[in-house]
Amino acid sequence: MATAALEPAADPFDVSRPEIYAEDTFEEIFRRHRAEAPIHYVNDSGFGPYWSVSTYKPIVHIEALPKIFSSDWEKGGIAISGNPEMLKQYNMREPMFIAMDPPKHTGQRRTVAPSFGPSEVAAMKAECAARTGEVLDSLPIGEAFDWVQRVSIELTTGMLAKLFGYPWEQRHHLTEWSDFGGDVELIKNPDTIELRLAKMQEMGMAFAALWQERMANPGKDLISVMLKSDAMREMEPEEFIGNLILLIVGGNDTTRNSMSAYAYGLNKYPDERAKLEADPSLIPNAVQELIRWQTPLSHMRRTAAVDTELDGHQIKAGDMVVMWYISANRDESVFKDGEHIRIERENARRHLSFGYGIHRCVGARVAELQLVTLLEEMAKRRLRANVIGEPTRVPACFVHGYKSLQVELSRY
Ligand code: HEM
Repeated sequence: MATAALEPAADPFDVSRPEIYAEDTFEEIFRRHRAEAPIHYVNDSGFGPYWSVSTYKPIVHIEALPKIFSSDWEKGGIAISGNPEMLKQYNMREPMFIAMDPPKHTGQRRTVAPSFGPSEVAAMKAECAARTGEVLDSLPIGEAFDWVQRVSIELTTGMLAKLFGYPWEQRHHLTEWSDFGGDVELIKNPDTIELRLAKMQEMGMAFAALWQERMANPGKDLISVMLKSDAMREMEPEEFIGNLILLIVGGNDTTRNSMSAYAYGLNKYPDERAKLEADPSLIPNAVQELIRWQTPLSHMRRTAAVDTELDGHQIKAGDMVVMWYISANRDESVFKDGEHIRIERENARRHLSFGYGIHRCVGARVAELQLVTLLEEMAKRRLRANVIGEPTRVPACFVHGYKSLQVELSRY
């Protein structure tokens, strides 16, 4: 009797499956991954074979060796979806410094980084507080609304538009483009490639126009500041635009999802919320803890530039290595009870949500400023966000976030 060929069982540690994030079942899978096979080769996945790295120490090791573990977009870039063959086929390029190795990365990062220094970011505080206050004061009390749309998106997109002097009335473009960029499942889907190309073209043209306009009429915004630096002025137009996209789009849904994590996460841990409401001096640490717990980018990817060894595993040149920050941030050897929010956690700042080493997030201070400000302005108004339904989550293994979250505000 003929028997149907059995499909090989899916690898239980293939953590690239979008449903485990959409259904919020990733924690148990990663717990086993860390315990049984912290560095594991996934033979087959929706993105091809990859090394899956789930614990803290090897991730830090990989990030400290950029010559061995490359971020170069021509090799595969920074996300599991990176596909150099596809880029070639469609004549696409991704020249932004997050996806470059030294020495090119070093020069371009050095140009941008001073705009995100401590005093530069401190100078943004007043405007950030005013804008946050305005958004909070426009919200209904005791009535259901979507926190993602009305708070998280409104605040992050608005702040980035202000920082870069993006036309205020058109700021919704920033949300739309960043959504598209973050959804790796859309990127690898051939049916949506044409749409993605058209969107990228639209985004490139808008930023090119902005660049021309700022060259002619410089202001105080970050684009004008960057244009004044020699290295940036001399950059190829394509690279300048690539980096503008990185700065404006990269900081968008990451910060947004941290803001949603504040509402969702503290509602899940009401005792922790009560501590914060009683003592607003805990806000800075609570922000780090929320960024750790949420881990708005679940992973970053590297590609081995040479044959190498990682904790006894032989990695070959060209192999894809995926660093799961979302798991390292719950690594029991570093974070006790890491699956839970503890706003007084002493080492919350050690999280890897911003990465580590030469590529560590340039915009971390801006993100922290926006989050601290949101929590401070909520505290000033004695406002509490009560979650009144399960959120819908982004079905992706790169951006870890919320599509919608129904809440009702009350005063405490
Ligand atoms: C909570 C919010 C944020 C999170 C979780 C986040 C996360 C990250 C991560 C994981 C990296 C890569 C690190 C690595 O490869 O080691 C990165 C790099 C970067 N981020 Fe962020 N980010 C956030 C907000 C922002 C903001 C607000 C901006 C800009 C306004 C920004 C701009 C950048 C840039 C330019 C890089 C590239 C740095 C480099 O390659 O040297 N990010 N971010």
